[in-house]
Amino acid sequence: MREVLILIGLICQAHACLQRIDQMPGVRDASEIIQRDYNFDKVEQLVAALGLDPDYWSLEEGPSRYIKYDLTRQRLNLYYEGLRVRGFTLQASINSDGQYTGAVSGYVPDISHLDISAGAGVRRKDVKQALVQYVNDNNVRINQGDIDSDDLEHFYFEREIYIDHSTGKASVIFFAKALVNIPNYIRTPKALFDCDLNVIKGRVKVRNKETSGCPNAQGGNVMFPGLTYGPGDGELCLDVRVRGDTCILHSRKFVVKDVLNELDRSKAEIVKFPCKEGLKDESNDGFSANADAFYFSHVFYDVLKSWGKQTEPFDDHITTLYTHYAMWPNAFWDGYAATFGSGDENVYPYAVREVIGHELGHAVTEHSENLVFDGESVAIDEAFADICGKAISAYLDPSFNWKFADNLIRSARDALRYFDDPTRDGRTIANVNDFQTVITDHPALGVGVFDKFFYLVVTDGVPFPDAFEAVVLANRIYWHGETGFYDGACGVLRAASDLNQDVSKYRSAFMHVGINLSFCGLDGTA
Ligand SMILES: *[C@@H]1O[C@H](CO)[C@@H](O)[C@H](O)[C@H]1NC(C)=O
Ligand SMILES: [Zn+2]
Repeated sequence: MREVLILIGLICQAHACLQRIDQMPGVRDASEIIQRDYNFDKVEQLVAALGLDPDYWSLEEGPSRYIKYDLTRQRLNLYYEGLRVRGFTLQASINSDGQYTGAVSGYVPDISHLDISAGAGVRRKDVKQALVQYVNDNNVRINQGDIDSDDLEHFYFEREIYIDHSTGKASVIFFAKALVNIPNYIRTPKALFDCDLNVIKGRVKVRNKETSGCPNAQGGNVMFPGLTYGPGDGELCLDVRVRGDTCILHSRKFVVKDVLNELDRSKAEIVKFPCKEGLKDESNDGFSANADAFYFSHVFYDVLKSWGKQTEPFDDHITTLYTHYAMWPNAFWDGYAATFGSGDENVYPYAVREVIGHELGHAVTEHSENLVFDGESVAIDEAFADICGKAISAYLDPSFNWKFADNLIRSARDALRYFDDPTRDGRTIANVNDFQTVITDHPALGVGVFDKFFYLVVTDGVPFPDAFEAVVLANRIYWHGETGFYDGACGVLRAASDLNQDVSKYRSAFMHVGINLSFCGLDGTA
């Protein structure tokens, strides 16, 4: 049945399928239905003469052109319930007295069972965002990032009726257009969206049919092989952007730039490679820092969305992850981007999942302008970041362990930190009362206080997603630039109370790390 419908309205020949309006299902030839016996003074009379119910249909006078004596041709735009019917116009003839003669050409579709209220709730900014997304999905601006809605000038949209060429079926749609006029990029995107803002069709310049792909790559490192990425069964799709035959590690949220083991990040380029070859960035015994950075950043976004119930700051702008940053045993968040060192003889490349979550956790904290200054704040900032890293593991694997980054270290120690016993590394503390010993030189070693709290509250029966949500909410709502251990813990307690969780488990977990929250009232937070 479907094949039959497709053949109607489209003339398929050897090399092309051509549209023909007269063959669209349900359309009628205006010249055959109009009563020609009269001249008409008004366009409304043409509507009636075409047998169209004037309660629903109207014609709008468009441009006209004098052809010869006694004949001016005028275009009439067709409206149904006040909405423009895309792709349908009539051509009327006007005599020297300015009357319509009844000679009319063009086609009228059959519109019935149309839910005219469809899309009524769609707002201007929604359509604008859809057009931005359409541009970004169809035009990768290499090394320049995506556009955002501020880049759209002369944005215009209109609710219209669209008739599907194959089926003749009418639906309410949105037509949108704008000018993008930024350095090295001037385009006039236009698109039609259905009422759910899915693209029906559009045009920017060159359209690429394929917009995402699943190239092959191996994650992890020689000692701890990670995920296998690819298009096959049992493989994970990296869901990269595809342009022609090229795969690009660039999405609407994250972009991976490879520093190629140099130190100068300004020379780093967006990772691009032939899709069929897959990722081949093996370095210092790590298989593909690029694939892991791209994949786990998106997983972190999902964790933040589904467990943390917020996604800032990752919707605001595209976050960059720099990989293969020198032979350097660390990773960092610099306020704008996450950077992952290539490791050294003791550690594998730093782009492992929990470290990726950790660095992006700093982005969440920074976005709230939280935990900026003194030692206690630094310790909480690090712990929140650790919890974000651990959340990726817990999200992907219910049987996760409580080591932090246990797939990073080559020897000697088997993890970077230990939630269950932070002191196991011989440096990190696990009780606020020990903070004086580290505050001057290494306040970050206070990370164990909240790491341990988090471990305790989860092992005491608070589901990981609930505890994560409470900590994220505390960060967003209760913490600030100068939050210390006591106030930070009180904020977590109040967040848990806001979320109707069992706060006694939080009080008890904090008590175990030396924080007596009896001072922390919950009045006004329930
Ligand atoms: C917590 O602090 C309150 C108020 O100072 C005190 O009464 C209580 O005994 C403390 N709890 C513990 C277990 O130390
Ligand atoms: Zn950190």
